Formats: sequence, structure tokens, C-alpha cells
Amino acid sequence: DAKNIDYVAEIKRLKKEKNAVILAHYYQEPVIQDLADYVGDSLGLSYKAAETDADIIVFAGVHFMAETAKILNPSKKVILPDLNAGCSLADSCSAEDLATFKKKYPGHIVITYVNTSAEVKALSDLCCTSSNAKKIVDSVPLDQPIIFAPDKNLGAWIQKETGRDMVLWDGACIVHEAFSMDKILAVHKENPNAKIIAHPESEAHLLKIAEYVGSTAGLINYVKTNPANAFIVATEAGILHEMQKEVPNKILIPAPAKENNTCACSECAYMKMNTLEKLYTCIKHELPEVHVDEAIQKRALVPIQRMLEIS
Ligand code: 13P
Ligand code: SF4
Repeated sequence: DAKNIDYVAEIKRLKKEKNAVILAHYYQEPVIQDLADYVGDSLGLSYKAAETDADIIVFAGVHFMAETAKILNPSKKVILPDLNAGCSLADSCSAEDLATFKKKYPGHIVITYVNTSAEVKALSDLCCTSSNAKKIVDSVPLDQPIIFAPDKNLGAWIQKETGRDMVLWDGACIVHEAFSMDKILAVHKENPNAKIIAHPESEAHLLKIAEYVGSTAGLINYVKTNPANAFIVATEAGILHEMQKEVPNKILIPAPAKENNTCACSECAYMKMNTLEKLYTCIKHELPEVHVDEAIQKRALVPIQRMLEIS
């Protein structure tokens, strides 16, 4: 009877028995984060995936993250609780469309955000995440024009920060575009000492008023090191779990979303497709498994490795 299974205890037991490592993103459910061997942002998770000596990588995150782990470890088994856990950014940029786009802009270096499919990475010169995007763009010679895909908000922000010549792909994250400026400003009016901090996938008008812009790991580090005691946090609400653990005495307010959003704050429906029960059956049956075609894996590894070396 599924109801009588102690999922937490069983997952811990199976993990040991199978020499599996659980890597979880900050947007996962708290119970999943607490079970993970490592919780991090996309970049941290890539490093962990690259260095693990486990036989099985259980990826509690979305598909592109598990795929990146597979590209880094083609001989390891990489499993994901729900293969349908996608990402609106990865979906916005198909390999076919990117190939056409590249033809329109000859001589451009292609930098793609890690939120893309293996096929798109295989067409890229460099990968980046939100925590190293600036560094990656800065590593490209100044006279070299750049195609940046697929997040237009992160792209525009990096363009502003670096002053570089960049052609932006027109993609966006549905979660980070759901924030309501009016509601955020109203919350700020009630909490004038709270600092607004935001993930760079947020829209330009929000990034403009944010005191700090950074990756999930960057945002957590900021609330830890900044002396302020209240923050309005504009990113997926799952981050509040780890953030609050780090700063138990500070006030953390999730940035409110627009009226028609499915939840009052912003939640990534893809990230939340992974449940404790699915995580358990995933480790138990070692399914569903993430596969990447060998030729694509070899080509996709190049921009990922370049990224890891630069950052
Ligand atoms: P981070 O790399 O900042 O964790 O971002 C991942 C992501 O999907 C943001 O929406
Ligand atoms: Fe993709 Fe946005 Fe979800 Fe991150 S929060 S996985 S960018 S849809």
C-alpha cells in the first residue's frame, strides 16, 4: 500500500544501496531539498554533476538540468522523477530555429543559457548560467559580436552591464515574467526597509528597481551577507526554504505575482512536477532515465566544459 511507505526513509535507504546521489535545485519542494546530497543553482549543480563518483545521478530539477548532468557523465545513469518537467525558456528555442537564426547573423559567437536542450547546446560556442553570464560574455573578444539565447531579459541585463554588441533571442521564463510591479511596489511601501532583490530572468523594469540582481545562489548569499533584515525576493518561491534556513531571523517576503497567476507568489509548475512519491519510484525503478544521442552529447559537452573552465 503506497500510503504506508515512509518515502523519506526509503529514499535514504535506496540512495545508499545504489550509490546514488540526489542533486536538487532551490526551486524543489522543501522535503526534496532536505533529502538531497546537494542543493544549488544551475552552475553549482553542473559542477557537482561533473565531479560526482556516484553510479546514479538522481536529478531533482527540470529536464535541461538532468540533460546537462548526462552530457557531463555519458556513462552514468541519470534519472529525473518526471521527464515532463520542462522549462519555458528551453521550449522557446528549438535547434532548428537556432540554426536558421545563426545563418542570419554570420560571424557571431553563440552563447546559450544552460536552460536549453542538448541539441541547442550542440549548436553553441559557449554556455552560461545566470551566475556566470557576465563573466562568460566578458571572456569573448571585444570586437566579436554575440548571439545570446534564449532569455531576452537576462540577455538585455547582461548587454546593459557589459555594453556588448549582442543579438537577443526572444525567449522568457513564464515564472519570472509573472511578477506584478504594482503589487511589489505596494509591498515595498508597507515595508520600506525591505530590499528588493531579483533573478535576472525578471523583466527590465523590475531589475531596474532591484538593489541586487543574481542567480538563486547569488540571492541567498546576498541576504546572508547584507546587513538589512527584510527582503522582497523576486524569484521562484521555492528558494525561500533554503534562504530562511540561512537567515532564520530575517524577514523574507516573496514578490507577488499578477492577478491571473496560478499562485499568489511565483511557482514554477515544471519544477513542482517532481514530488516525493515520484522521487521514490524514480530511485526504486531507476526510471525514467535521461538519454542523449552520442553525437549530440559530444558536441554539447564542448560549450559546457568551456563554461566550467571560465567560471
Ligand atoms: P539559477 O541558475 O539561478 O538557479 O536559475 C535556474 C532557473 O531555472 C531560474 O529560473
Ligand atoms: Fe524554466 Fe523559469 Fe521554471 Fe526556471 S523557473 S525552470 S527558467 S520555467
